[in-house]
Amino acid sequence: MSVWRTKSIKDLMQEARDNEKLKRSIGTPELIALGVGAIIGSGIFVLTGVAAANYAGPALVFSFILSGITAGLAALVYAEMAAMIPVAGSAYTYAYASLGEIIAWIIGWNLILEYMVASGAVAAGWSGYFTDMLSSVGISLPAALVNSPAGGGLVNLPAILITALMTLLAIIGTTTSATTNKIIVAVKILVILAFLVLGIPRVNPANWRPFLPFGIPGVIHGAAIIFFAYIGFDAVSTAAEEVRHPNKDLPRGIIGSLAISTLLYIAVTIVLTGLVSYTQLNTPSPVTTGLLAAGVRSASLIVGIGALAGLTSVLLVTIFAQSRVFMAMGRDGLLPSFFARVHPRYHTPMLTTIVVGAFIALIGGFLPINIIAELANVGTLSAFFIVSLGVLILRRTRPDLERPFKVPFMPWTSLVTMAFALYLFFNLPRLTWIRFAIWMALGLMVYFAYSRHHSVLARVEPSPLPQPNPRPFSPLRPFFISCPALAPLFLRLRLPWRRK
Ligand code: ALA
Repeated sequence: MSVWRTKSIKDLMQEARDNEKLKRSIGTPELIALGVGAIIGSGIFVLTGVAAANYAGPALVFSFILSGITAGLAALVYAEMAAMIPVAGSAYTYAYASLGEIIAWIIGWNLILEYMVASGAVAAGWSGYFTDMLSSVGISLPAALVNSPAGGGLVNLPAILITALMTLLAIIGTTTSATTNKIIVAVKILVILAFLVLGIPRVNPANWRPFLPFGIPGVIHGAAIIFFAYIGFDAVSTAAEEVRHPNKDLPRGIIGSLAISTLLYIAVTIVLTGLVSYTQLNTPSPVTTGLLAAGVRSASLIVGIGALAGLTSVLLVTIFAQSRVFMAMGRDGLLPSFFARVHPRYHTPMLTTIVVGAFIALIGGFLPINIIAELANVGTLSAFFIVSLGVLILRRTRPDLERPFKVPFMPWTSLVTMAFALYLFFNLPRLTWIRFAIWMALGLMVYFAYSRHHSVLARVEPSPLPQPNPRPFSPLRPFFISCPALAPLFLRLRLPWRRK
């Protein structure tokens, strides 16, 4: 039974057609809103401060540009894949079609880090802003009910409640979720624009000096950390089966949402580091800190509303995206089949969405969140790496496929995306690599114990017919399968730009 079996693209498309139970109800504007909804969140509202104060200083804008280039290249690659294979599983499905089942499984497993684990952190971040806002109007909630056990409390109840609410919304229907998302996204963009309008006249250029207090290594380290802010544009591709014209709308949605978010990030970073010295930004709500320092008294309220809106939409979209990936994995037999069930009335994968919501609520309600963003970065970078490789491989093995959107300057675009993803990966803290290796080892155990035997392809494998492209690019396989095993080797590397 080969772990390298691939799914033919024809079968994938046929399955998506056979499973036409999801409603095709969204277009480019909803997709752009979906992308911006998933992208702009705690990355800009929370992590910017830590990254400016500890890593990059005012040069954080270059960290955002560096990460933005990586995300932009990956967006092009995703756009080609999404337009060519418009099915719900995103990176997981692309890998299944191009690199083989085990890589698809690894990607699916890592997307849990990107979507589900990251959302737990986002839910806890939401709770932080919510309790801050309540206390600014004189209402304080019991500390035991707003902190996880690691934070000295019993449970983070607001994190659980907001997750439950967003799960419900994601179940009720894609149209309702998309409309709600559009409203929330409009609010967060308005708040960011308000920040810029209030902030620009108050900028003091003296705050931009020294511009590079931690040197170039600080900028690169900062880029690896704030990469979290760009996570999410790929969630657009998981809506493929609910989009009216996937071939046109998906590339526009992916690239459009990333372009809007990148411009806003660059503008916010320049203004924020001009409002206050970077040394004062190491706070849980740096955007509020910046405005308060510049004398805007209503800052907590304005930024609080934007942050809550931002985090709410990230949560909604990631619940949506994770359910679609699980649904695709359930369809393929790599997860139990109930994951693929679509509710007859709501036309959404209800059970899967409930499972996803429950896990996010548990993570947000009970687990420490400070390291989760880095884990999410690792999961996402590995997905970007593999999707870039997948595009390259499909260009070679299936030049005949119709590509409504084609990445320019191939193979360079793919190669550069992979190099950038690896570079940022190695600039994350060493402990994150270890956690990631453990996560991968767990995933491989589940694959070999369950998924490999229950795979739909395993059931059809005894067929004597030759499989198309059964083992493309075999020299690369040992590299991928041995990635977790190589971790100890990586740990020994002393890279010059690493600080510890
Ligand atoms: N990009 C998302 C955020 O910043 C995950 O919250």
